[in-house]
Amino acid sequence: MKEISEERILVTGASRGIGLAIARHMLAKGAHLVLHYHSTAESVESLQNEYGRDKVAIVRANLEQAEQTAKMFVEASEYFGGLDTVVINAGVFEPCSIDTAWEKWFKSWQRTIRVNLDSAGILTRLCLGHFRKKNQGRLIYIGSRAAIRGETQEYLAYAASKGGLTSLAKSVARSFGRYNIKSFVIAPGFTRTDMAMEAIANIGEEQVLENLALNELTTPEDIAPLVSFIASGQMDHATGTTIDLNAGSHIR
Ligand SMILES: NC(=O)c1ccc[n+]([C@@H]2O[C@H](COP(=O)([O-])OP(=O)(O)OC[C@H]3O[C@@H](n4cnc5c(N)ncnc54)[C@H](OP(=O)(O)O)[C@@H]3O)[C@@H](O)[C@H]2O)c1
Repeated sequence: MKEISEERILVTGASRGIGLAIARHMLAKGAHLVLHYHSTAESVESLQNEYGRDKVAIVRANLEQAEQTAKMFVEASEYFGGLDTVVINAGVFEPCSIDTAWEKWFKSWQRTIRVNLDSAGILTRLCLGHFRKKNQGRLIYIGSRAAIRGETQEYLAYAASKGGLTSLAKSVARSFGRYNIKSFVIAPGFTRTDMAMEAIANIGEEQVLENLALNELTTPEDIAPLVSFIASGQMDHATGTTIDLNAGSHIR
């Protein structure tokens, strides 16, 4: 059985929510992790203290900034002598109605596209260069149900960014399989993290629950095991796939 104990994995946005749950799950399985954060250092530092520096390295970058993103990847790829899997998870979910003043709306659009899509594009390009040299690698993108189902008008940029991310991941799978590079998207629906709680509060949790097939909201811990499983290589022949993980709120 393939395991992740020998794998070297970068997780972006590992400081909170889904990324933090992925980091915890992978560390419990023995992987070497490079944990990225932007403003919340405590959780990644605490994991480093718990597992030690030979298992956990920490990198910081504002992924809205292209140069910081690229520098972070180079730093991350040097820690354990290379990377086997990169989990592109960090993201923002910023509401901005189309009735908002133009300048404010466009700034919000740009911020979302920079963090959610531009940084994913930059990291993908760098990963492909890195993975091609060793003829092996995996990219796991945390997408969204929004890419498939669409979103409400307050989240146009978010849905567009996740649509772009999903096409990017598919193109990587098609073009780089011959280099033994695999690419996957996990598309969560509402998940109990800081990101979703404002939107859930606005809609009303009862209403959100009514729209699920299951009778409980997805948590980050429901997503993490799947990411570890993909990183183990046991799903490699499903490369290019998008896996829905939305408690049955959107079944296709
Ligand atoms: N929660 C949901 O309902 C849901 C649903 C579908 C998809 N997703 C996707 O799942 C992923 C993780 O979301 P989450 O719910 O775990 O969100 P979260 O709890 O809000 O955490 C967001 C993470 O992204 C990082 N981040 C945010 N802005 C950044 C920036 N400018 N530069 C670098 N890092 C930045 C944060 O780092 P710091 O805290 O260090 O600043 C944090 O680690 C996202 O891609 C999101 O779109 C979430």
